[in-house]
Amino acid sequence: MADYDYDVLVIGSGPGGYVAAIRAAQLGLKTACAEGRETLGGTCLNVGCIPSKALLHSSEIFEEAYSGALAKFGINITGATLDLNQMHAEKALAVKELTGGIAFLFKKNKVDWLKGNATFTGTDTVEVAGKAHRAKNIIIATGSSVTPLPGVAVDQEIVVDSTGALALAKVPEHMVVIGGGVIGLELGSVWRRLGAQVTVVEFVDQILPGFDGEVRKESAKLFKKQGFDIRTSTKVTGVTVADGKATVTIEPAAGGASETIVADAVLVSIGRRPNTDGLGLDKAGLAVNARGQIETGHRFETSVPGIWAIGDVIPGPMLAHKAEDEGIACAENIAGLTGIVNHDVIPSVVYTMPEIAGVGLTEEAAAARGEIKVGKFPMMANSRAKTNRDTDGFVKVIADAKSDRVLGVWIVASLAGTMIAEAVLGMEFGATSEDIAYTCHAHPTHSEALKEAAMAVQGKPIHM
Ligand code: FAD
Ligand code: NAI
Repeated sequence: MADYDYDVLVIGSGPGGYVAAIRAAQLGLKTACAEGRETLGGTCLNVGCIPSKALLHSSEIFEEAYSGALAKFGINITGATLDLNQMHAEKALAVKELTGGIAFLFKKNKVDWLKGNATFTGTDTVEVAGKAHRAKNIIIATGSSVTPLPGVAVDQEIVVDSTGALALAKVPEHMVVIGGGVIGLELGSVWRRLGAQVTVVEFVDQILPGFDGEVRKESAKLFKKQGFDIRTSTKVTGVTVADGKATVTIEPAAGGASETIVADAVLVSIGRRPNTDGLGLDKAGLAVNARGQIETGHRFETSVPGIWAIGDVIPGPMLAHKAEDEGIACAENIAGLTGIVNHDVIPSVVYTMPEIAGVGLTEEAAAARGEIKVGKFPMMANSRAKTNRDTDGFVKVIADAKSDRVLGVWIVASLAGTMIAEAVLGMEFGATSEDIAYTCHAHPTHSEALKEAAMAVQGKPIHM
């Protein structure tokens, strides 16, 4: 340790960084975490996963109460009104509690919180708020930020990114969402439920890139049923703002006649890009790849010994749980243990209603690799979903035709985000579809649909 200030210095306190810091401290390493924001928790806790899920939850309850959808259960609510300020306040409270929770965990685990932006001044030194800190190991966990759309200026009032869309002061009459990915559909759902007309403009021919083809089609059908206007194969060529309104010009992606949409809010959600500006990577002897990411080996060490990187700033899906698992594995590798992340088995969940979840290969990717068997089971035939009147969606299990090993599971269902965990666990343990089919599932639960989809792979579902 001699002249090092720390064994481990983590840059960034998002789900990757704060988890890495806590695990390193748990393993007996003297640890610090530098954070440029006022509060800990990164994008996820401050302006990502947590506030978006807070608004998804409250907007869902509002729509249920307001729309009369509960009347069929014998619950008549008249005069339900929206107090948007209170909805934002409750969201802010959840964020405050959770970010404060990380500060508590840092204290408990004796992780030093260095307040300010960190910049490399050498391969083992960073400067934070004018003070140099030397560390034996430095973990870069600086996350990502919104990708700007050239020619479209975000003002966070009319033209917003995800951060602005989490804080709109009033419900827009018409919102145009640019990009039909996860953020566009989640935050579009929030404002649609609260009363906005929502138009999604998506450049490619389907929403939800990376998801299974059938899931993308079914989701688009369900979102349209909910009132979303989805314009695929369409590009935005310009946005102008005047008198509190935005005029969005769109045209077919392949070129053609343009049209304009007048909107009260425009959400730019065309992806995110790694944060490396101002980090002084050159001083550390590091460079980014063509996509702006920092490359690492499977142990999360970069090309410079002692400098590690995890989370959104490295290749792979930009997901909080992926960042967390990499944080744990990275800290364990630094401590001399064997930290591994199985990047083939990372679930993705879209927290709309119904939820959309998947893990492993899409049917298209699996079929391209070899012979497969596919089992599908509709939520319509699941007794619990039928009883609860939430029968939208299906479960699909994709297995290798010869070994029966599960290669991918895709779920569209109200509880898909919870149900996918079982599939993830099964795949992590190398389950076959038969293993899942012969595992006892509690009745009546939505999870039985996964068992039945696995039985369908064998050609023998009971309830279909
Ligand atoms: P981040 O969480 O981005 O944290 C990086 C931190 O580093 C930031 O706090 C930043 O201030 C700090 N930092 C950057 N540079 C420096 C520096 N030089 N010095 C000091 N500090 C620095 N993922 C999910 O899995 N589930 C979800 O439901 C989900 N919802 C989302 C909703 C929205 C609206 C958004 C935008 C994202 C969502 N994500 C979700 C993605 C998730 O937030 C990210 O994948 C995750 O936060 C990445 O974690 P990270 O630790 O790599 O980086
Ligand atoms: P995304 O990559 O999910 O979707 C962006 C969409 O925009 C794509 O469909 C793409 O084809 C489209 N697009 C790109 N350029 C366009 C253009 N010029 N015009 C119209 N459409 C265009 O990115 P998104 O939604 O911004 O989310 C960023 C990241 O945040 C994702 O990687 C996601 O993993 C993460 N996230 C995860 C959540 C979750 O796990 N529930 C929730 C929110 C975000």
